[in-house]
Amino acid sequence: MEIQESKIKSFVTKYNSEKKALISILQDIQEEYNYLPQDALRIVSETTGIPLIDIVGVATFYRAFSLEPRGRHLVTVCLGTACHVRGGLKILEEFEKKLNIKAGETTEDGKFSLQTVACLGCCAIGPVVVIDDKYHAQTTIRKVVPILKKYMTKRERK
Ligand code: FES
Repeated sequence: MEIQESKIKSFVTKYNSEKKALISILQDIQEEYNYLPQDALRIVSETTGIPLIDIVGVATFYRAFSLEPRGRHLVTVCLGTACHVRGGLKILEEFEKKLNIKAGETTEDGKFSLQTVACLGCCAIGPVVVIDDKYHAQTTIRKVVPILKKYMTKRERK
């Protein structure tokens, strides 16, 4: 994907090039590209004066950021103890089967990325699956396809 230098600079100037706004700047870039392209981080570094190594440190610390290209929708399946004992692993396997990818991968069409997490802090409503910012509580294998369909266009659902 081609990075527009002017666009990255506009994200930086939106926050007056302030170093303390780094997370907000990275959030804007992540929202635009679905990940943090290396060229974009270099431009942020040059524009703000923050060393690239520090920017990468922040980017790798927060799970919301990705340094690798991500699908348009991020599917996160909880495999923490509470979700695991209620079938979390089977649900993960169902997502892997339906999306034809393994956890940590992105579909060929760039639509979905699949990842796991150790606990989302809402064990009472498990098994939990989060797609983008939406929590799907008490998920079952049977709910996997209906959930995925919500994120597909009408043509893809057929
Ligand atoms: S174990 Fe899944 S939310 Fe805590």
